[in-house]
Amino acid sequence: MTKVAVWCRHRGDNIIGIGPRIPWHVSSDFKRFRRLTAGQNVVAGQTTYETFPNRTLPDRRIYVLTLDSDYEVADSANHFVVNDVNFFKNFAEDIYISGGASVYRLFMTTDLLLLPDIVVDCEYQPDLPVGLVGTPVDISSCIEVLHRRYRQVSPDYEQDGIVTRVYVKTGDFVEQSVLKHVFTAIEKE
Ligand SMILES: NC(=O)c1ccc[n+]([C@@H]2O[C@H](COP(=O)([O-])OP(=O)(O)OC[C@H]3O[C@@H](n4cnc5c(N)ncnc54)[C@H](OP(=O)(O)O)[C@@H]3O)[C@@H](O)[C@H]2O)c1
Repeated sequence: MTKVAVWCRHRGDNIIGIGPRIPWHVSSDFKRFRRLTAGQNVVAGQTTYETFPNRTLPDRRIYVLTLDSDYEVADSANHFVVNDVNFFKNFAEDIYISGGASVYRLFMTTDLLLLPDIVVDCEYQPDLPVGLVGTPVDISSCIEVLHRRYRQVSPDYEQDGIVTRVYVKTGDFVEQSVLKHVFTAIEKE
């Protein structure tokens, strides 16, 4: 099993959301996310899950992290409630950790056994619009771990104001077929 974290953060302050929403809309960023996760197991926190249109992402299995054991998913055949992140320590298949901040922090900062093997770090370069309403959500603690425990294995890919970099955990074996899938998804287009 390979764990891949995928995020897009704002340059400088590591903001990934304002209130429940991502404060930018870049079509190529969504397309990259779709290519990375198509057919895969996606892990999302309840807040992020509820921002997916109709609470779904077609052609993916979604694992919804929530402390609510009675939580009702939108598609019980393809979506699954997970109350304990330790469930993923012995998961058999690859997983794509897709946020939000609580979920990135659970995987990046709480237990070495949960650390993602690969991080797809997308950085939104423009200034954020002024006057956005809502509490900023940032992942600075995850970026600190990224810089301490990971090494960049890709060039910087720039598209539509977003720079994408691929990192792998230092000193560990990385499944090459998964890394190849990640590079293919990023380089396409
Ligand atoms: N830019 C990006 O790449 C990106 C990607 C995804 C999301 N986002 C943004 O991130 C923000 C949402 O982040 P968030 O941190 O507020 O929410 P979140 O991570 O999406 O979801 C939080 C949920 O995780 C559950 N949770 C927390 N700790 C848990 C644990 N130890 N075990 C089980 N479940 C646990 C909580 O459940 P309970 O409610 O039951 O406590 C809570 O509902 C939004 O602004 C969203 O747009 C940005």
